[in-house]
Amino acid sequence: MPSRKPSEPAAPPLLECREVKVSFGGIHALSDATLVADRGMVTGLIGPNGAGKTTLFNAITGLHPPDTGLVRLDGEDISQVRPHRRARMGIARTFQRLEVFGSLTVRENVLVAGEIWRRWSKNNEVDVAAQAEELIERVGLRHLARERVDSLPTGPARLVEMARALATNPRIMLMDEPGSGLNEAETDEFAGLLIDLAEEGLAILLVEHDVELVMRVCKRIFVLDFGRMIAEGTPKEIQRNKAVQAAYLGTAA
Ligand SMILES: Nc1ncnc2c1ncn2[C@@H]1O[C@H](COP(=O)(O)OP(=O)(O)OP(=O)(O)O)[C@@H](O)[C@H]1O
Ligand SMILES: [Mg+2]
Repeated sequence: MPSRKPSEPAAPPLLECREVKVSFGGIHALSDATLVADRGMVTGLIGPNGAGKTTLFNAITGLHPPDTGLVRLDGEDISQVRPHRRARMGIARTFQRLEVFGSLTVRENVLVAGEIWRRWSKNNEVDVAAQAEELIERVGLRHLARERVDSLPTGPARLVEMARALATNPRIMLMDEPGSGLNEAETDEFAGLLIDLAEEGLAILLVEHDVELVMRVCKRIFVLDFGRMIAEGTPKEIQRNKAVQAAYLGTAA
């Protein structure tokens, strides 16, 4: 018997959120959030302050699971899976309020994440130290590898957080405003890095207020406003969308 009928749909998207709802007391932070993010591309998630972007990241990573609705990873419902298990399943994240080990060096930050990943994956073949060096090089921090992270400006510190997320060999990386604190040259480098990582197959879900950066790197963009997804489309479609202009681009200008 053939394992797949021709009429069967293609593989499910790597990440799918369907009608996710999250309330804090009487506040409906998310009332209807549906999105997909797939391998090999950067997907944007934009919206005004307080729209619910970070809340959706918390629902996806399990820090604050949805009240109702679904989060699926590669077709599997993970809505009630605990955060550390989701991380092991390949969901990595960087935070809006930078979270790094300030008293450790750049290299140590990345090494710690690699060691944790090695323990999870029980993969003793991988040379975690070599992987850390590669990642540090990749995000352009080789010259700072021995510096304590709390001595660094925000831009490089954000890159440390990114290298640390990558050291867990994720399938999807959620990034919450990684561009804030980066200067123009760093933003350019960063955009190139995101595109390269996506081309290698990683799924990236990007929350970012720098609209130009979002338009440059994202294939698809979802727009949240007051906890609801009000638009979805290519950068061009989103730029032309009247509801988006009113809700987001208008206020950001
Ligand atoms: N722990 C919490 N307790 C109560 N209300 C919360 C909590 N976290 C978020 N909210 C509220 O939920 C709504 C969505 O917040 P969220 O931080 O997800 O927005 P955001 O889109 O990430 O905004 P920003 O662009 O400013 O980061 C806001 O009204 C916020 O005040
Ligand atoms: Mg936020």
